[in-house]
Amino acid sequence: MTTFTLNGRSVTVDAEPDTPLLWVLRDDQGLTGTKFGCGVGMCGACTVHIDGRAARSCITLMGDVAGARVTTIEGLDPGHAHPVQKAWAALQVPQCGYCQSGQIMQAVALIGHFPQPSDADIDAVMAGNLCRCMTYARIRAAIKDAALEMGA
Ligand code: FES
Ligand code: FES
Repeated sequence: MTTFTLNGRSVTVDAEPDTPLLWVLRDDQGLTGTKFGCGVGMCGACTVHIDGRAARSCITLMGDVAGARVTTIEGLDPGHAHPVQKAWAALQVPQCGYCQSGQIMQAVALIGHFPQPSDADIDAVMAGNLCRCMTYARIRAAIKDAALEMGA
């Protein structure tokens, strides 16, 4: 049994300690906004926040999240209107959309570290979040718009 905080509520999950957090989020908790891409920590599709930091849920084991605070795309903002989500919508960032939950979760963490990120900051932090649809230019623009909004 593992007890942790998921999107603001305490949950207790019956899973082996070596079960990936991603499996629990999707299959046990029904939170399918977090995606499975590579399964080995290389694509970023499964990115969530653990205690406020971006983390790859496919390689995070349940044994490591006991007592932690986990936030998924569903819990980022109650109205799904976080400034990053609003910037994403305004600039129509997604194409197929598959990578975008992870992109948004990584972007929110990025702005937390770099309130006014440069292109180099964005490239460095977002490099591990892959997009087969090549939406990178729109992602960069949306991050800058969101950062301005959040700093306003
Ligand atoms: S599915 Fe986790 S990094 Fe690719
Ligand atoms: S929008 Fe299709 S993979 Fe990124």
